[in-house]
Amino acid sequence: MCGIIGYVGNREAAPILIDCLKKLEYRGYDSAGITILNGNIDTYKTVGKIRELEKILPEDLKGNIGIGHTRWATHGVPSTVNSHPHNSGDISIVHNGIIENYLAIKEKLQQEGYDFLSETDTEVIAHLLHSKLYGSVNNTEKTCDFFTALRSTLQEVEGSYAVTAVCSSEPDLMIAARKDSPLIIGIGDGEYYAASDVTAFLNHTKDVVFVDDLDLVTIRPEGVEFFDIDGNVLEKEKTTIEWDIEAAEKAGYEHFMLKEIHEQARSVNDTFSGKLSELDGSVNLEELNISNDEIRNIDRIEIIACGTSLNAGLVGKYLFENLAGIHTDVDIGSEFRYSNPIMNENVLSIAITQSGETADTLAAIRSCRSYGCNSIAITNVVGSSITRDANNVLYTHAGPEIGVAATKTFTAQLIMLYLLAIRFARAKGTLNVNEAKDLLVNLKRIPGQIQKILNHKDTIRECAEMFAKERDYFFIGRHLNYPIALEGALKLKEISYIHAEGFAGGELKHGPLALIEDGTPVVAIATKGHVYEKILSNIKEIKAREAKVIAVANVDDTEIEKYVDWVLRIPATDELLSPVLSSVLLQLLAYYTALARGCSIDKPKNLAKSVTVE
Ligand code: F6R
Repeated sequence: MCGIIGYVGNREAAPILIDCLKKLEYRGYDSAGITILNGNIDTYKTVGKIRELEKILPEDLKGNIGIGHTRWATHGVPSTVNSHPHNSGDISIVHNGIIENYLAIKEKLQQEGYDFLSETDTEVIAHLLHSKLYGSVNNTEKTCDFFTALRSTLQEVEGSYAVTAVCSSEPDLMIAARKDSPLIIGIGDGEYYAASDVTAFLNHTKDVVFVDDLDLVTIRPEGVEFFDIDGNVLEKEKTTIEWDIEAAEKAGYEHFMLKEIHEQARSVNDTFSGKLSELDGSVNLEELNISNDEIRNIDRIEIIACGTSLNAGLVGKYLFENLAGIHTDVDIGSEFRYSNPIMNENVLSIAITQSGETADTLAAIRSCRSYGCNSIAITNVVGSSITRDANNVLYTHAGPEIGVAATKTFTAQLIMLYLLAIRFARAKGTLNVNEAKDLLVNLKRIPGQIQKILNHKDTIRECAEMFAKERDYFFIGRHLNYPIALEGALKLKEISYIHAEGFAGGELKHGPLALIEDGTPVVAIATKGHVYEKILSNIKEIKAREAKVIAVANVDDTEIEKYVDWVLRIPATDELLSPVLSSVLLQLLAYYTALARGCSIDKPKNLAKSVTVE
């Protein structure tokens, strides 16, 4: 969730670090800092966003090597002293992750005379590193080199880390290392970057090397070398990233979220492109290394995810059960990892995580492996941690998502779940060729239908503005639209700070109806399907309590107007596919509500894009 960066090259490091940190700001934005190596370690840090840091940097800050950090607090409140870099003597480091045994190490180091300034776990790395390098707090003679000292430090700490570190007694060197926290090396023309994700340096270079767990990287002006934790040299392959920087910038939209909502016609198409054959109703998932026999042997699917990805997983349950007849459970990552699940080798686990870095989802999928289950990761980030933990990886091709609220990655996850469910259903023979063909034809129409919703966004905006001052908002749906009601509520609450809840339509009379008051807005997802009449009954129950009902309905539905106050329309499609279209509409409703309330849409308070700690 924090963002780290390091630069080694022949240009001034400070402006480059600032530029890179701005790209990483979505990972955390409560404080920031940099250290420039220029004979000394010159450190500047402050609370607030990167622009605050920029203001305190001296104009004549010189040096070609530097490290930087943008923080989302985990240990210790957001404050200047808790922000990174953390220094010890001539050493400066930045860290993303959590050191679990930091209290024990801190006590030991305090007894040795080290003074701790912050409440962070990271400061123990700095002092431990110093104690390894110099033997004791007051010693100025080195007992080993910086690389050996960092290796030894990382062998002693438990938990997760991605670090970049510098030491003024080795003025041409920066070292980066990772365990369970993302780290990517950018290879430029005579210059090098180390960052939490590629977005940081994409406008400087697209050539990257992914760092694996327990690897260290030494970066000098003359080149990069990779080592394992025991100091053995490693050979690594360079990869070229295809995203370009425009994709990572706002392209004229007021917010990244709005841009990303608008990108969905393309991202949905990119996710299924090349995989559908309407001729024989087949879905080709080349990356999936599971045979038809193995598919037929799946007893149960266990989907694990958090937040919005969990809501995608709940849609997945309906798809795997309806199309492929496979019993499917959906669990929250943080719950699953501490439960005692009934698993065996015939259970297929599917982790859904756009970032590929959510700590709870990673831990849960690792525990599935220990039961001998085959696993699939559905993720948007190439080379992310989940890709190393799952046996199969299916990439959604949504491109970089900067807005903290997931939008295009959610619909891309839904598309991948359709593809997987159809693939399984065809292997099992639960979906015949004609049914599959129909579904694929309708799937191909989805991008154009998303565009139609985007073209009519003014009606959604008008509706959002009408209810933007409300204190509570409710969302209801049935069957596949139930998880979409949950997602509609999640999107609204996280960016507009309105209290919002999603319910299964049939559950209202079991409690939530008590919350409905005169004028309370209730969004009812009432698209055509086998439960349409049922949701109409729920709408009538709510209207009887004087709620204001906003229906999400199909364009050709003329009946719905009789029962509700507002109708927001989506094009007609197969009942199974309509959640994609309803989601786009509800994202716009949340966006325009937050806009009307003047909220910080791309960076909602207390939230981070990638939750890499438990
Ligand atoms: C909400 C949102 C979060 C994430 C959740 C899981 O808009 O984005 O709820 O869905 O933190 O993140 P990933 O998908 O990266 O595992």
